[in-house]
Amino acid sequence: MSKTEDNLKAAFDGEAKACLRLLGYAEAAEKEEMPYFAGLFRAISAAERVHALNHLRLMKEIEDTQTNLQKSFERETSVTDNVYPEMIKTADEEGNKGALTSFSHARDAESFHAKLYKNALDHMIEEKVTHYNVCGVCGYVVDGDAPDECPVCGAKKEKFFRVD
Ligand code: FE2
Ligand code: FE2
Ligand code: FE2
Repeated sequence: MSKTEDNLKAAFDGEAKACLRLLGYAEAAEKEEMPYFAGLFRAISAAERVHALNHLRLMKEIEDTQTNLQKSFERETSVTDNVYPEMIKTADEEGNKGALTSFSHARDAESFHAKLYKNALDHMIEEKVTHYNVCGVCGYVVDGDAPDECPVCGAKKEKFFRVD
């Protein structure tokens, strides 16, 4: 890997993190009833997203959709089976309840993400246009309308947001 290829990866990581960090800052500004600053954070976050995606496109990590689905399925499976269980164990040992809940929600939601990818891979030919609903508490994703209660975290329907 050339130095510039390393730099693209580092720059992507930095921009992707900045994009999300700024969304966290925007949420905080909303809570503090400072909508102007929330808007500023959201705008710069959107700009960092542009940078991150520009770098990512040059990293040759985006392939054809079948490959992208397969790789995404593998990543979700790996975090569900290996990465999060290890983190959950450590958070439990260290008595970090917040992290324990956050990791557990993520682990459970990721297994549903893996199922959605698997389903998409199995039905590549019969594509259908659908909409999804995402639990704003734990990240569970459902194909179609939101359930009355999230099967992962128990959040009510109102906590879901629709993604088309
Ligand atoms: Fe940037
Ligand atoms: Fe996931
Ligand atoms: Fe949930």
